[in-house]
Amino acid sequence: MPSYRKVMEFKTVQAFDEYVKSQNFTIGLAPEIKTDGSAALAQPIEYKGRTIGNRWAILPMEGWDCMDDGTPSEFTKRRWLRFAESGAKLLYGTEAGAVMHSGRSNPQQLLVADHTKEALKHICSEMHRVHRKKFGRDDDLCIGLQLTHSGRYSHPNKADVLESKTAYSHPLLDKKFHNGPQNVVTDEEVGEIV
Ligand SMILES: Cc1cc2nc3c(=O)[nH]c(=O)nc-3n(C[C@H](O)[C@H](O)[C@H](O)COP(=O)(O)O)c2cc1C
Repeated sequence: MPSYRKVMEFKTVQAFDEYVKSQNFTIGLAPEIKTDGSAALAQPIEYKGRTIGNRWAILPMEGWDCMDDGTPSEFTKRRWLRFAESGAKLLYGTEAGAVMHSGRSNPQQLLVADHTKEALKHICSEMHRVHRKKFGRDDDLCIGLQLTHSGRYSHPNKADVLESKTAYSHPLLDKKFHNGPQNVVTDEEVGEIV
C-alpha cells in the first residue's frame, strides 16, 4: 500500500497543488475559494423534486445525550440548532433515532416514537427558524431523520449490557456476541420494527 501525505500537512494551496501534480493525481484544484456564490460547494442541487440550497451536508452523529425516555435533551437540541445555523443545507439525518426501545444502541439514544414526536416537531421548526433568521430563507433547507434499530448491537437499558436482537444467524458474529435462538426476533417483532 502506498502511503500519502495528509492534507493537513500542506500550508498553502500551491504546496498541495505541487504534491498533487507530483503524484499524478487528477484532482481539479481551485486556487482560491470564491465567496460570490459561484464556488462549487455553493451550488444548489435538485433532489426528488426539491431544491437543496448548497452542497454542504452534515452527516448523522449519535450524541447519546437524550433523556432516559428517548426525548431530546437540551444538549441534543443545542447541537441540532447549531447544525441549522451552520449554513449546510442538507442535515443528513441529524443523528440515528431508534424506532423502539429494544433497538437502542445506548440508553441515552434518541427514540423516534409517539411520545417524542412533539419534541422532535418543535426542534425541527426551531431549526427552520434559526436557519431562516441567519440565511434569509429555509425553503431550500433539507432536514432528515435517520431511523435505526441496533439489532445485535442493542444496549437499551445499560450502556455496558448487550441485549442483542438478531434477524439472521451469522456464523462469526453470533459466536462473538454469544447470540443464539434466544436473541432471534419473532415475525411479530419484525412487523413492529417496520
Ligand atoms: C460519534 C459518532 C457518531 C456517529 N453516529 C452516526 C449515526 O448516528 N448514523 C450514521 O449513519 N453514522 C454515524 N456516524 C458516522 C458518521 O456520520 C460519518 O459517516 C463517519 O464519521 C465518517 O466521516 P468522517 O471520516 O468525517 O468522520 C457517527 C460517527 C461518529 C464519530
